[in-house]
Amino acid sequence: MTNPESSLLGVCFIGSGSAVPDRVLTNIDLAQMVDTTDEWIASRTGIHERHIADGEQDSVANLAAKAGQKAIANAGLTPQDIDLIILATSTGDDLFGTAGRVQKILGAERAVAFDLVAACSGFVFGLVTASQYIRTGAYKNVLLIGADVLSRWVDWQDRRTCILFGDGAGAVVLQAGSQNNLLGFEMRSDGKGNDLLNINYSGRSTFEPISMNGQEVYRFAVRRVPEVIEKSLHYANLEVHDLDWLILHQANQRIIDAVVNRFGIDPAKAVSNMGKYGNTSAASIPIALDEWVQAGKIQSDHVIAIAGFGAGLSWGSAVFRWG
Ligand code: COA
Repeated sequence: MTNPESSLLGVCFIGSGSAVPDRVLTNIDLAQMVDTTDEWIASRTGIHERHIADGEQDSVANLAAKAGQKAIANAGLTPQDIDLIILATSTGDDLFGTAGRVQKILGAERAVAFDLVAACSGFVFGLVTASQYIRTGAYKNVLLIGADVLSRWVDWQDRRTCILFGDGAGAVVLQAGSQNNLLGFEMRSDGKGNDLLNINYSGRSTFEPISMNGQEVYRFAVRRVPEVIEKSLHYANLEVHDLDWLILHQANQRIIDAVVNRFGIDPAKAVSNMGKYGNTSAASIPIALDEWVQAGKIQSDHVIAIAGFGAGLSWGSAVFRWG
């Protein structure tokens, strides 16, 4: 399929949407399940509660489709307008891929749909991947969704990990246009750090629960995230003070604070909603983006830097203009 108006090779951001399960699990609830306290979790992570999937209604496909539906509507399009669906997820409902189920629920019959697995960097990697199809004129309207249900893969007896994660989905619609609003990006990975954070195949058609070296992952994030933000700003010909918003993967408030301090930017520009959602993996950046868009804080022409990081190890950043 080719974009018939192939002079339109810029990437525009024309709509966002998000969805989380109804069920809320607070720190107080967790303190009844494992040996922890609200105070410990809140002071070490900034997380107060998270939304947890509750059965089939909150499958990755259903959450992703809900977020996608809202993004398509907010973009002023219909599912039939979508040419490509990229579902960034590491917790799919089907190892063969979950994007096809999302396509079916949406009724996006013209689209081609596939999964992209890059853990908590999935949304950034998905954005860069989607943009390549637009920049080459291959596709015009792309639905990019980040969706994860990590609660399925958490050991609920392990207080070092079970406090961190939540479930949800966020989406954006990208459209080919005359102006290119994806201003710069940088993606990185380092497989040598794979054992620091993974969900390992354990044989007999099963996987182990999430395994994580929290301190090492923390150090990795604080060191590597600023580097890729600097790179993507450099490619965008911009400086940190040109940013209206910084949206980091919502893993830990202390990681956000460290990056904010490092750059000396106004903390009010650093979007944070992990208090309500925990770490929703590939969904965290688009959920935060959508919340700020719906609240009218992010407006047309605002310049936003996003950065994801996590298992792989993988990390990446993109700088774009909203609209
Ligand atoms: N409640 C109470 N105590 C806990 C606890 C919990 N939920 N989890 C761990 N502890 C204890 C540990 O057992 C340890 O006790 P000890 O000193 O008696 O052995 C103590 O708290 C300190 O543990 P430590 O692992 O050093 O804590 P930390 O300050 O590094 O915080 C994380 C732990 C997980 C919050 C932090 O390392 C982190 O956020 N890392 C990044 C993780 C991340 O973002 N992962 C996803 C990336 S996509």
